[in-house]
Amino acid sequence: MLRVRISSLARCAVNLLIAAVAIALVHSGTGYALDADQQQAKALLVELCARCHAVGRVGRSPHREAPPFRTLGERKLYDEDFAKRLRDGLNTMHPDMPTFHFNQRESEAVVSYLRAIQVSGKP
Ligand code: HEC
Repeated sequence: MLRVRISSLARCAVNLLIAAVAIALVHSGTGYALDADQQQAKALLVELCARCHAVGRVGRSPHREAPPFRTLGERKLYDEDFAKRLRDGLNTMHPDMPTFHFNQRESEAVVSYLRAIQVSGKP
C-alpha cells in the first residue's frame, strides 16, 4: 500500500519536472524552428545589422535608437515596399548607417525570418 503511494508520488514529481523543462525550453527563445533560408537570413542580419539592432528573439539593440527586429511588427513586414526597400538599399531610413543591398532571394529570406521572430501575434 505504502509503496504504491510513494511510486505515484514519484511519478507525479517526474511529470512536474518534465513540464517545467518543457516550459523553460519554450521560453528560452530556442523553442522556435527556423528553416534553412531563415537561418541564412539571420546569419546575414547578424553580420550586417547586429552592431545596432537586436536581431534575435531576445536581447537589446546595441544602438539606443535602433528597434529590436522582433518588434518591427507584422504590418511593416507584410508591406510590399519593405522587401523592395531591402533590395533598393536601406540607407534612406537611417542616416548613420551604411547602405545595404539584398538580392531578391535574400530579401525574401530576411522578411520571412523577421516574420518568424515577431513577438506580436498575427495581424
Ligand atoms: C549603424 C547602426 C545601424 C545599422 C548597422 C543598421 N541599422 Fe537599422 N536602424 C538604426 C537606427 C538608429 C534606427 C532607428 C532610426 C530610424 O528609423 O532611422 C534603425 C531603424 C531600422 C528599421 C525601422 C525603421 C524603418 O525605416 O523601417 C529597420 C527596418 C531597420 N533599421 C533595418 C535594418 C537592417 C535590415 C539592417 C542591416 C542590414 C540595419 N537596420 C542596420 C541603425 C542601424
